[in-house]
Amino acid sequence: MKFQNLLITNEDRIQYITINRENKLNALNKETLAELHTAFFDAFNDPAVGGIIITGAGAKAFVAGADISEFADLDADAGTSLARNYQTKVFDQIANGSKPVLAAINGFALGGGLELAMACHIRIAAETAKMGLPEVTLGLIPGYGGTQRLAQLVGKGKALEMILTADMITAAEALHYGLVTHVVDQGSLLEKAGELMHKILLRAPLALAAAIRSVNAGLNDGVNGFQTEIEEFGKCFGTEDFKEGVAAFFAKRKAEFKGK
Ligand code: COA
Repeated sequence: MKFQNLLITNEDRIQYITINRENKLNALNKETLAELHTAFFDAFNDPAVGGIIITGAGAKAFVAGADISEFADLDADAGTSLARNYQTKVFDQIANGSKPVLAAINGFALGGGLELAMACHIRIAAETAKMGLPEVTLGLIPGYGGTQRLAQLVGKGKALEMILTADMITAAEALHYGLVTHVVDQGSLLEKAGELMHKILLRAPLALAAAIRSVNAGLNDGVNGFQTEIEEFGKCFGTEDFKEGVAAFFAKRKAEFKGK
């Protein structure tokens, strides 16, 4: 088996990645982070995969954070390397991915777990889920993009309140603040995730990738998002999918996109 800590299943063009360390509440140890890098690299490069849904094994946790047992011996340099390495290899890899990634938050999403969910393009949650960035209780701060992405998603005030108090919020509160876009009962979570992803996968794949790049662009320092949008918009006109989309519109039929 390729992965020790991940379960991978495919259904139609959706790949489901389940973090499978249930007895450690799916905490992200280095092995799991390395496996996530490989799994997403494979999924983004596999033409049979249109989109990815990530979730956690069991009913209790999506991911209860980075694996704290691996933190004990780190010094300042090792901490910097850890954040730099995995922020790029996993969290930015997902956020900048060319295919839509949806986090189905089935339980606790804490610390690195919430950071993982926030790196995804869309988040939905079970009504039992709880979310937070409790790093300050350990004398740390979020290191996998959490200070930036939480502020982008919920605004600076609520982000700072959550980070400084280390309080968890409920799924209903997360919906209120825009951290997740749907809350459903736990039994319906993957069905709802699949339904959303199926709808997205009816759309033109190159346009999906262009939309992700454009939305991300304005959130990166030193990049003009409006300029990126202009360039991505223009490139769409050069695709076969654009011609198919317009032809289907006038023929009053469903478009059949090929990602070309
Ligand atoms: N890293 C390593 N192990 C973790 C973990 C983490 N982030 N979160 C949970 N675990 C382990 C526990 O140590 C425990 O292992 P054990 O059975 O070998 O003792 C197991 O998962 C179950 O967790 P437990 O704490 O017993 O469950 P609980 O229901 O009492 O509490 C939480 C659930 C989520 C509130 C609690 O586990 C917690 O606070 N986890 C850490 C959250 C955190 O600070 N994350 C940010 C890290 S930077």
